[in-house]
Amino acid sequence: MTIISHPSDLRLQAAAATGPRVLVPTMGALHAGHLVLIRRARELAGPDGTVMVSIFVNPIQFDRVADLAAYPQPLEADLAACREAGVDLVFTPAPGTMYHPDRSVTVTESSLSQSLCGASRPGHFDGVCTVVLKLFLLSGCGLAVFGEKDFQQLAIIRRMVRDLDLPVTIVAHPTLREPDGLALSSRNVRLTPAQRAAAPQLRQSLLAAKTRLATGIREVSELLETARMEIESSPLARIDYLSLVDAETLQPVTRIERPAVLAAAVFYGEVRLIDHVGIAP
Ligand code: PAJ
Repeated sequence: MTIISHPSDLRLQAAAATGPRVLVPTMGALHAGHLVLIRRARELAGPDGTVMVSIFVNPIQFDRVADLAAYPQPLEADLAACREAGVDLVFTPAPGTMYHPDRSVTVTESSLSQSLCGASRPGHFDGVCTVVLKLFLLSGCGLAVFGEKDFQQLAIIRRMVRDLDLPVTIVAHPTLREPDGLALSSRNVRLTPAQRAAAPQLRQSLLAAKTRLATGIREVSELLETARMEIESSPLARIDYLSLVDAETLQPVTRIERPAVLAAAVFYGEVRLIDHVGIAP
């Protein structure tokens, strides 16, 4: 496994790589959710292809300094996990090598990023799009694997690829969960035992809302109010947003006439967790 820490070296090494080049962009603190994406990348690349994993805690996508400072960075363990998973190339740049101090070009998606995480984390998706475009260009990947867990991120990356004619096929992988339903996340390790015990309620409340819809409750405001009360039944939970949006435009809807997504971000202490469920009309 080759470890590369400078962007220009990635460009050189990737240009010499054989077979399909498949990239899995991550911010490290790898868990089983990341590893399923890497396994998928291995399958897509085949034995002759090149699986590339980037590990970069991208400073420009963090809206809260404390969140960036607290982001776990267990690099040695991450490298071992990549080696174990059959990764060919790991790109782990220092922040100073990715961004010029006077950088002045940013990629902005201006529609899908208006709601949900984009509304509550200003500038977040500009940071994501900018780094992902740079990673696509540096790695020359033909395929890139992303998790459905961050479904707004996935939709925005797909839009960027479409609108900028990027020669990259985006492959989506379903969310991996703990047995109690909590979506695996690098931030879960920062939960206290009490917060960890409360956190599965997020998923359960979204699923309960979906079930209520199936049994005929179509009143969206009532549905959101019930889900809000359920999530906040734990005194440890503080809702950042809870919203029903159109699955394609990600704009809030008041009626379910087309596929929709019920999505939430909830703080447990300082840790912000997100989850969503799809809703059929
Ligand atoms: P990060 O949060 O490290 O996630 C990297 C990838 O792993 C994303 O595509 C995410 O959706 C996926 N992922 C995370 N948890 C998952 C789970 N439980 N099941 C399945 N997939 C999961 O997302 C980012 O990093 C960054 O924004 C990045 C795209 C790397 C740009 O900096």
